[in-house]
Amino acid sequence: MNDDAHETFETEATDFLRMETLEQFIIERQGSFPHSTGAFSRLLRDISVAGKIVNRDMRRAGLVDIAGATGEINVQGEVQQKMDALAHREFVRALKRGGECCLIGSEEHAEAIPIKANSGDGDGEYIVLLDPLDGSSNIEVNVSVGTIFSVYRLPDSSVPPSLDAALQAGIHQVAAGYIVYGSSTMLVYTTGQGVNGFTLEPSIGEFLLSHPNITTPATASSYSINEGNYNSFQRGLKEYIKWMQISDKESGRPYSTRYIGSFVSDFHRNLLKGGIYIYPATTKSPNGKLRLMYEANPLAYIVEQAGGRASDGVMRIMDKQPETLHQRTPLYIGSKDMVLMAEEFLSGNRLHTD
Ligand code: AHG
Ligand code: MN
Ligand code: MN
Repeated sequence: MNDDAHETFETEATDFLRMETLEQFIIERQGSFPHSTGAFSRLLRDISVAGKIVNRDMRRAGLVDIAGATGEINVQGEVQQKMDALAHREFVRALKRGGECCLIGSEEHAEAIPIKANSGDGDGEYIVLLDPLDGSSNIEVNVSVGTIFSVYRLPDSSVPPSLDAALQAGIHQVAAGYIVYGSSTMLVYTTGQGVNGFTLEPSIGEFLLSHPNITTPATASSYSINEGNYNSFQRGLKEYIKWMQISDKESGRPYSTRYIGSFVSDFHRNLLKGGIYIYPATTKSPNGKLRLMYEANPLAYIVEQAGGRASDGVMRIMDKQPETLHQRTPLYIGSKDMVLMAEEFLSGNRLHTD
C-alpha cells in the first residue's frame, strides 16, 4: 500500500467517528419530544447502557459459565436460560439506578415491579415493559438474540404505580425499541417520529446512527413462520402459505422461508429487507406464543412507524386492550401488503387457487 492509499484506508476506517452518537441524536431531538424534560433522554441512555452490559456478557458466552439453562422455569412455563436472568437483572438495575422509571414489567418476573422515585419533578414517570432476552435458547448455538422494550407514561402521577397503570393499549406507547445482538449489535427505536437504527462501535463503546429513517418495503418475497406447526394452523393460514409457495413470476413466488426462531432477529431482517413474520394460534399455543405487551406491541409500533403493519389476523395489534401483563397474542407483522394479504386469506375471502 503506498502512502496515499494508506491514508485513504485510514480515513475510511475512522469515518464512523463522524457519525452521530445515540446521545447526540437524543439530545437534538429532545426539543421535539412532546413532554420534554430530559427524563426520556436519560431513560433511553439507561436502556442503552444496560444493553451494552448485556452485549459485553453475551460476547463471552461459551467462555464463562453464562450459557445454558438456570434449572428454573419462568412465569411463562418456559425454561429460563442463565442469560435471561442476567439480562433481566441488568435492565432492572439500570432502570432503578436511573430513576426515570416507576414500574417495570418483565418476561422474567411474574408481577410488575414498582420502583420508588428517587428525586425531583419529572422523575419516575415512565413505565418500561421488557423482554430482556428474546430468542434466548439460541445463545448456546451462537445465533443472534435481542432485547425488546416498550415505554409508556404513568397515566396518573398521584396514584402509586401498579400493574393497572401498565395495562395500556399499544397506541399509548411513547417509545419502543429493541437491541439485536447479532453479527453487530444494533439499537433500533421509535418515539413516533420514524425509526432510527444505531450500531454499537465496540472500540469506543458508542451506538452510532448507522440506519437513519428506516422504512420497510411494502412487499417482499420471504416469510417467517414455524412451519413445523402447519397441521394445527387455521384453514385461512394454510391457504395463504400454499399461495406463497405457488410459482408466479410476476409476484416473485414461490417466496422463501426465513425463520431464525428468535423473533427480534427475524423481525429485524424483515424490517430492513421486507417480509412477513407470523406466530399464529396453534394447538399448543391457542392464543399464539408471543407476548402482547413486550414482544408484539413494541415491534408493532416500530413496524408501523416504518410503513409496515401488525395485526393478530383480525385487528390491529396496537388497538388491543391488554388484560394481563404476560398475555399472548397471535401475530402477523411486517410488510404492509403481505400482512393485508394474510388477513384476506384469514377472513376466508381468498383461496390459494385464486
Ligand atoms: P423468548 O426467548 O423471549 O422466550 O422468545 C422465544 C420466542 C421468539 O423469540 C421466537 O420467535 C419464538 O419463541 C420461537 O418459537 P418456536 O420455537 O415455537 O418457533
Ligand atoms: Mn421473547
Ligand atoms: Mn425472553
